[in-house]
Amino acid sequence: MWKCERVIGADLDVEEVIGVYRASTLAERRPVADVERFARMLAGANLVVVARADEGSLIGIARSITDGAYSTYLGDLAVDVAYQGKGVGRDLIRVTREAAPQAKLILLSAPAAVGYYPRVGFTRHESAWTRDALQ
Ligand SMILES: CC(C)(COP(=O)(O)OP(=O)(O)OC[C@H]1O[C@@H](n2cnc3c(N)ncnc32)[C@H](O)[C@@H]1OP(=O)(O)O)[C@@H](O)C(=O)NCCC(=O)NCCS
Repeated sequence: MWKCERVIGADLDVEEVIGVYRASTLAERRPVADVERFARMLAGANLVVVARADEGSLIGIARSITDGAYSTYLGDLAVDVAYQGKGVGRDLIRVTREAAPQAKLILLSAPAAVGYYPRVGFTRHESAWTRDALQ
């Protein structure tokens, strides 16, 4: 089994977190090679939930930014392939929602997870917009 809990992103071991991004395959779509930038992604996220196996290893993470009152942007959800399909992702989302119960969750799905979000209660939004970063 596993346990999910909210943590301070800046307190996490960056290499350990990069390990779970790699083990989940999400590393293919995130700047894990730039450790300094990745550390800023972790430290700048104010709602980070991790899942740890009973022996303590990191098996999943939900990295979000929330105002605590209206909206929570779920930037990354990643579960180690060895633990996928057991409910860890669902549990990470539950703890994230409970941390800011009045906030609506917003996310951009990775292509491989487009079929996942409707199964865990999300609704597709037809008027979501993004704009590329300046650099
Ligand atoms: C997407 C991801 C976070 C889901 O985590 P998980 O722990 O495997 O998900 P859960 O076990 O909570 O799954 C809940 C349900 O969704 C189903 N499901 C899991 N992954 C799915 C997928 N990619 N597509 C469709 N359904 C999926 C499960 O079978 C389960 O179904 P059930 O309720 O009938 O048992 C995980 O597979 C992952 O890390 N994928 C790679 C990284 C990625 O794409 N992340 C998303 C970035 S936006």
